Amino acid sequence: LAVMPVSTVYRGTLAHSTRDEALQILEDFVLGVDAEGKIAFIEEGQNVDSLSQTWGFQTSDVIQLEQHEFLMPGMVDTHIHASQYSYSGTALDLPLLDWLNTYTFPVESRYKDLDYARNVYTKVLKRTLRNGTTTACYFATIHTDASLLLGQIADDFGQRALVGKVCMDCNSTVPYYKEPLKECKDETLRFIRELLKKEYAHVKPVVTPRFAVSCSSSLLHTLGKIAKNNDLHIQSHISENKEEVKLVKQLFPDCKSYTDVYLKHDLLTDKTVMAHGCYLSDEELKIFHERGAAISHCPNSNLSLASGMLNVRNVLNHKVKLGLGTDVAGGYSPSMLDALRRAMDTSKVLSMQDAQHQTLTFEEAFRLATLGGSEALSLDDQTGNFEVGKDFDALRVNMCIPGGPVDMFPGQGPKDISLLQVNACVFDIFAGDDRNIAEVFVAGRRVVPFPDL
Ligand code: GUN
Ligand code: ZN
Repeated sequence: LAVMPVSTVYRGTLAHSTRDEALQILEDFVLGVDAEGKIAFIEEGQNVDSLSQTWGFQTSDVIQLEQHEFLMPGMVDTHIHASQYSYSGTALDLPLLDWLNTYTFPVESRYKDLDYARNVYTKVLKRTLRNGTTTACYFATIHTDASLLLGQIADDFGQRALVGKVCMDCNSTVPYYKEPLKECKDETLRFIRELLKKEYAHVKPVVTPRFAVSCSSSLLHTLGKIAKNNDLHIQSHISENKEEVKLVKQLFPDCKSYTDVYLKHDLLTDKTVMAHGCYLSDEELKIFHERGAAISHCPNSNLSLASGMLNVRNVLNHKVKLGLGTDVAGGYSPSMLDALRRAMDTSKVLSMQDAQHQTLTFEEAFRLATLGGSEALSLDDQTGNFEVGKDFDALRVNMCIPGGPVDMFPGQGPKDISLLQVNACVFDIFAGDDRNIAEVFVAGRRVVPFPDL
């Protein structure tokens, strides 16, 4: 069996999550990327000579990482509204349902203007990539052409993405921001057909009912069928806010729970990701587990809109697939490092309220931002960690940036904490930001720094 020669080999510290270990730190390892952008091998550094013979590379071509650098998997944003980026950081003074009607729907209605869409979507792509998001699961707007444009821009910049044309046919107090059922169905089918026709390597459509409040039962049924017939991903929102949960009970009196609404409409599959889930009962979590459906935990948004606090530990105990999301612009930060920090903060608040609550550790949060996210999006056969055969979606992290948030060489912190004896610099990423993310790769292609800069 002829092996494909590797195109790039790195040597240094690698940090990733595995099935058994939330955070595995590999010191002085070598990692080879093949010509197709897949991980060819990951082995101890001392084997570099024999590897060079097997894989046909020169040891002088090996890229040696500095002591204050490491490679980690690209992060996975399991829930982000690309269209809301235009007002992130503003307008966080209303609870969810008022926030949607007052700010969000009017802003989203502007995306019928493709120039407006191009401007914002280009900025979102650059900002998320620079912050280390190699995979994003996007909500666009109800506009098919602008949603297709988002797919094209993601492909241009080289991000792995699921892109959703938003579907909503009722209960919007903004009369011009919804579609009649028939139009919503036809446009969803056109969106899927045209996006798939482009044959983008890493950009795929996701069926996107906004949430049960905005969708008639007929629309939900239609979308469930479309997803099933085309074997597509599904995304929506669930149990984010108490008023919303109450309203869904009124709107769907025949359903036992919010989860039951999606279940009855064939929208809860092993390719479904539902944002929030703050108020899901244990019975509902059991249904998620049985169906293989995932939750996207969006802690910044949950705090910013004062929606609730997801009990991450309970979700993990129910073995429900779980990832993190920024939920721009309910969440004001497009950074997955922010999502990681806020997931830990939320869990710490829960620990203060309940001594029994087992706080989310840094290692667990790291896993949620990477491998957990890829599992939540059912993309873990392609991305999420440094397993041989997966695509090389990676960040080259530099923890010593003068003037950056972290500018220390490893070993300058406490030495007697066992945790920190190995590669303190990996743990420093907790306090880092985009300045520490020197290079970003998706399927072996370098996407940051941007080629045009
Ligand atoms: N529920 C329905 N639509 C939205 C949205 O745009 N953002 C958030 N956070 N929740 C929603
Ligand atoms: Zn959302």
